[in-house]
Amino acid sequence: MLKKILPVAVSAVAVAALAACGGGGNAAGSGSTGGGAGAGDKALVMGFSQVGAESGWRTANTKNVQDSAKEAGVELKFSDAQQKQENQIKAIRSFIQQKVDVIAFSPVVETGWDTVLLEAKRANIPVILTDRAVDSEDTSLYKTFLGSDFVAEGKKAGEWLVKDSEGQSAVNVVELQGTTGAAPAIDRKEGFAEAIKAAPQIKVVASQTGDFTRSGGKQVMEAFLKSNPDIDVVYAHNDDMGLGAIEAIEAAGKVPGKDIKIITVDAVKDGMTALAEGKINFIVECSPLLGTQLMDLAKKVVAGESVPERVVTEETTFTQEQAKKALPSRKY
Ligand code: AHR
Repeated sequence: MLKKILPVAVSAVAVAALAACGGGGNAAGSGSTGGGAGAGDKALVMGFSQVGAESGWRTANTKNVQDSAKEAGVELKFSDAQQKQENQIKAIRSFIQQKVDVIAFSPVVETGWDTVLLEAKRANIPVILTDRAVDSEDTSLYKTFLGSDFVAEGKKAGEWLVKDSEGQSAVNVVELQGTTGAAPAIDRKEGFAEAIKAAPQIKVVASQTGDFTRSGGKQVMEAFLKSNPDIDVVYAHNDDMGLGAIEAIEAAGKVPGKDIKIITVDAVKDGMTALAEGKINFIVECSPLLGTQLMDLAKKVVAGESVPERVVTEETTFTQEQAKKALPSRKY
């Protein structure tokens, strides 16, 4: 399937440009050499539309993008969409009006972006997809997509479970999905389903969205526990929902990590802490540290240099023992 881009919008916070630079506001597609670090150059201006602040991952990603912009001498116009597509679309239109040099955004959902992306293209403003993809047939609407392989993440989660379930006759899984229509929710579901085909005794008995939030994960898990007396495993599409599920499991008098095993995706500090404590059993890493690569790509795109269509983030996985070792130096 072809992936498309998406829109967001709202609060605008300009992050300082390089001290030596003259500030933003250059004409779109100005042919700047990028970055504005040199004397007399104007800082490259990036409009960045973020999904929201739904998870620990997102908070870490926002901070990393803002810090990386400062380091790279990029003037960042930051907008938080509060998980609403219409806000992202408004933000992108506002960036177009402001004639930013480049627009980067992490689409809250996969579809519905063609119109606004065409507006950006007609205004000659390049677009970079970061973290999440869009589902569009017109790949000329964006220059590159930087982010994780979410299908591979789901597969890693499923493969761990297949191995862990060897010799068991029945394994009932409940799935806490991310935001409906979001690339990581669609792809992590798909990758997991693909991997568990190897073990027919593993069955997903319930699957529902928890919107990537801790409260959503808790609420859905409470309902799952009431309607499914026999849950062996929770597969949560992110740490936050897994942490919410832990609260629900403990409130129901069960022991997370033992009575009910938990697999999550992200590996943020709170998730890694729960893993080291034995409340989570396995985490697939999804790195939020995309900022440096994003700034490099933006400079190249604005300078008219060619960039790869797809840049995949390098990631690993963590067992409980690996989490104990990694935690002291974990940055987010
Ligand atoms: O798009 C990345 C996902 O979005 C992260 O896994 C999740 O925590 C976030 O909300």
